Amino acid sequence: MRLAAWTALVVLVLDQITKLLALGHLAPGFPVPVVDGFFSLTLVMNPGLAFGMLSSTPTAWRWIVALLSIGALAVLAMVGVRLLPIGSVDGLVIGDTFVPEFLGRGLDRSPFPPAVRAGFRRFFDTFGRYDVDREVERLDNAPFADVLKDYPAEVRRFFDGPLVLSGAIATGDAVLAAQAAGADLAYIGTRFLATPEASVPERYKDEILKASANDIIYTDLFSGVHGNYLRHSVAAAGYDPENLPKSDPSKMNFGSEGGAEKKVWRDIWSAGQGVGQIDAVIPVAEVVAKLMAEYAAARSRLAL
Ligand SMILES: Cc1cc2nc3c(=O)[nH]c(=O)nc-3n(C[C@H](O)[C@H](O)[C@H](O)COP(=O)(O)O)c2cc1C
Repeated sequence: MRLAAWTALVVLVLDQITKLLALGHLAPGFPVPVVDGFFSLTLVMNPGLAFGMLSSTPTAWRWIVALLSIGALAVLAMVGVRLLPIGSVDGLVIGDTFVPEFLGRGLDRSPFPPAVRAGFRRFFDTFGRYDVDREVERLDNAPFADVLKDYPAEVRRFFDGPLVLSGAIATGDAVLAAQAAGADLAYIGTRFLATPEASVPERYKDEILKASANDIIYTDLFSGVHGNYLRHSVAAAGYDPENLPKSDPSKMNFGSEGGAEKKVWRDIWSAGQGVGQIDAVIPVAEVVAKLMAEYAAARSRLAL
């Protein structure tokens, strides 16, 4: 984004300088030969918009059209940024900067400090040597308790960077449990959906308050990759949650399932198995204060 702004500024300055030079050195309509018989410069006053468009319309109308065009361009730019593949690792928007090919050369152009970029590179290098698909399949089939018990320690054997544990963490007690299991950080998603700050529909928040772990459906139907969804939203979108069709990998489009009108994220809502622990929509600051109080209480309960 910053590069684009600088380029635009340089173009604007060069444009203004060449205009001043032309006005100062050329007389309207008189060609000044640069290469005799081959190339000459002629000052021509253009009364219209770009390429003389609308030159025969009144000045006021030309201004209106120019302003409308600028408005349309601004809208296009905003839509364009929204269409960029946010959330995809191969080219993504970080802050306001679009970083193409994030996993490749883009990493060096990402707006992170050098130490963070080095950490990412080490992470990608490590996982490049790792059969992630096989590991995901193993974890999908492993009992949750086994995952918590063994997995952080197992990852530690090949990765010494920051380790984040996520899934069904909604209380300070669970943050302490993640730490005890060997993680450096606990990652919380669903709990923050039930806050006034979350820009999801109010009905989504209501469903989060009502749902329990039993209401979470795990399927790859909607985006081609496995995800957890609220049963009620799946049923409201016209599916039988108990008999979901198998996903078709050829239709993986991360937006809607096989041309269905219902859109994932907009109509079919994600939530994790810790959803039953959430019973109020409270501001993020209160969620964080509650997590901290619960964490401290859990530590003293365990006499740590
Ligand atoms: C609305 C929503 C959308 C999510 N989208 C994705 C996603 O696209 N890809 C992904 O790997 N995880 C996704 N997750 C999972 C989170 O990254 C995170 O792992 C998970 O929410 C943590 O568990 P918790 O929600 O039980 O706290 C999503 C979670 C939610 C609540």
